[in-house]
Amino acid sequence: MSEKKSSKENNDSAVLSGDGFSINLPLLKGSLGPDVIDIRSLYKDTGKFTFDSGFTSTASCESQITFIDGDEGVLLHRGYSIEELAENGDYLEVCYLLLNSELPSKSELESFKKSITYHTMIHDQMTDFFKGFRRAAHPMAVMCGVVGALSAFYHDSLDIDDPQHRLISAHRLVAKMPTISAMAYKFSVGQPFIYPSNKLDYVSNFLHMMFSVPGEHFEQNQILTKAMSRIFILHADHEQNASTSTVRLAGSSGANPFACIAAGIASLWGPAHGGANEAVLKMLNQIGSVKNIKEYIDKAKDKNDPFRLMGFGHRVYKNYDPRATALKESAHEVLNSLGVENEPFLELALKLEEIALNDSYFQDRKLFPNVDFYSGIILKAMGFPSSMFTVLFALARTVGWIAHWTEMIEDPNQKIGRPRQLYTGSMRRKYSDISDR
Ligand code: SDX
Repeated sequence: MSEKKSSKENNDSAVLSGDGFSINLPLLKGSLGPDVIDIRSLYKDTGKFTFDSGFTSTASCESQITFIDGDEGVLLHRGYSIEELAENGDYLEVCYLLLNSELPSKSELESFKKSITYHTMIHDQMTDFFKGFRRAAHPMAVMCGVVGALSAFYHDSLDIDDPQHRLISAHRLVAKMPTISAMAYKFSVGQPFIYPSNKLDYVSNFLHMMFSVPGEHFEQNQILTKAMSRIFILHADHEQNASTSTVRLAGSSGANPFACIAAGIASLWGPAHGGANEAVLKMLNQIGSVKNIKEYIDKAKDKNDPFRLMGFGHRVYKNYDPRATALKESAHEVLNSLGVENEPFLELALKLEEIALNDSYFQDRKLFPNVDFYSGIILKAMGFPSSMFTVLFALARTVGWIAHWTEMIEDPNQKIGRPRQLYTGSMRRKYSDISDR
């Protein structure tokens, strides 16, 4: 990690006053984005908490990894725009950038790729874990279990205070996620596991483990490999989202990185988060045709109807998610190259987007397509079942989770995360014997 440029205190401060108190709170300025009011002394000095369930206005940490400007639809990784990285980089180059703060030189990238390649195998005893699941288990359930179990096999690298242990764990996780993901898929379809090949690059290796079968030669498709790499780059990191915050909070107690990543996988699974890509395909299936769009738009606007337009809206983006723009382009490219340009789901999604973006309900709330709106359409065309969509999101996001976990562990001011609450439960009362109730 580069020399930590801590946030700058300046002489500005915010004055907070209320019943019988008044306090000056320092304003901290970052390099980009809103200033923050440092409230760390608030409870000690006033006996009061702040309240912000959902963290809509709360910075949970200082970070140098990713910056999002939600109003402008800007996403930067270590200062580089997602558009440039998706266009020019390859996924492991972006992994190196996220983990090491700088783009690698040619030799740095070669040695990083070599290290990742030689950690793609998993302990053969781990294959038994898969047999404990029903074949019909959701692959995300398998991912939670098997990734968490990694800590049972790598006792040699669990000392989180040892930089070498942190480094080898980071490489093991980035390297083994494709292998475990492909195994989860193979197990679900009853096909034999395909071992990783050290002759293949990271993405080709993953597609080989996913789609090759022992009886046939597997033909790599460069268009799909490029599309897969781009999809992984677009999902690699996204600041303090729910799953990354889960990894940080789990890691703040000193839990090992494998257990923390398993916690991140569990959080990502939710349909409001990384599970949305699978939910979008289910929604498009439910809508069925363009003539039903209005009915579902009305449902999405109806407060009494729990239905939401999946793949739409975002806590931070109040503009078009730049990743959705890139994925929309990729959808056209991949479908055309596969000769399925009139894929019905794409037609439906484009029409749904057009109608929603012209509807005042969505305009007033600044609800735009997010990363999940188009990704599933591409993945379906590439041959992935929708149950694997969030697994692919977790595979790609593991490097972001690890970068944030490492940044937190290496922060000299790091302490265990322990939020407070606004208690509205019962006042103190006496226990009553069951015979009196
Ligand atoms: C990801 O945080 C990240 O960075 C996440 C992510 C990443 O890379 O890690 O970007 C990945 O999780 C993308 C989001 C995927 N989820 C979905 O597509 C599910 C559908 N979207 C919604 O559930 C919602 O938009 C959220 C969860 C994404 C954001 O919710 P917020 O910020 O809590 O917003 P909100 O629920 O307070 O909504 C504000 C208003 C409400 O209406 P009012 O009460 O003001 O009248 O907008 C409405 C909501 O009802 N609204 C929607 C809607 N999303 C918000 N109405 C219909 N359809 C939607 N999708």
